[in-house]
Amino acid sequence: KKVAILVSGGGSNMVALCESMVGDHPARPVLVASNDPGAKGLDRAAAMGIKTGAVDHKPFKGDRAAFEAELVKLIDAESPDIVCLAGFMRVLTPGFVNRYAGRMLNIHPSLLPKYKGLNTHARALEAGDREAGCSVHIVTPELDDGPILGQARVAVAEGETPESLAAKVLTQEHRLYPAVLRRFAQGTPGMLVLD
Ligand code: GRF
Repeated sequence: KKVAILVSGGGSNMVALCESMVGDHPARPVLVASNDPGAKGLDRAAAMGIKTGAVDHKPFKGDRAAFEAELVKLIDAESPDIVCLAGFMRVLTPGFVNRYAGRMLNIHPSLLPKYKGLNTHARALEAGDREAGCSVHIVTPELDDGPILGQARVAVAEGETPESLAAKVLTQEHRLYPAVLRRFAQGTPGMLVLD
């Protein structure tokens, strides 16, 4: 299976995914693309010998569809079977999502369906939650709403801050996403819960 990964920043989840796709793993990364030509994740992908590409979203201003049309050209040139959003911070239109319906995954730093959207850690702490975590789900047109394929949980400590919680959850993301991708690529998704 061929996997394209979309990043916007450092790409630590992309690195974890690419490092997992070795040996008898049924998938291989064929492209790492970004909406930011300066994304550090592109440098990290290139250092791993993976093809990279970027479409700067800024010149397109509000024209989301025009930006996505360029991004689709980049992605479809590699004919991926699976698209993984990994720290990708642009909202995608239903047109883009439906093009990859059922084969686009995303990792979100909360125990969905709680805390869709941004600032998930601050919101969990604000609510006094005793546990937090991350979720990998199939991407559907509604933001952070598709079928959940896996979750990893962390305990919230006394005095936890959004920064300390983000770091703990990110570590779990790097465990969860590769585990879910392997099962998804093998055609045996099913809900995975990591503790
Ligand atoms: C992190 O906040 C992570 O929780 C979320 O995207 C952000 C950047 O991740 N998934 P990455 O290091 O670019 O993978």
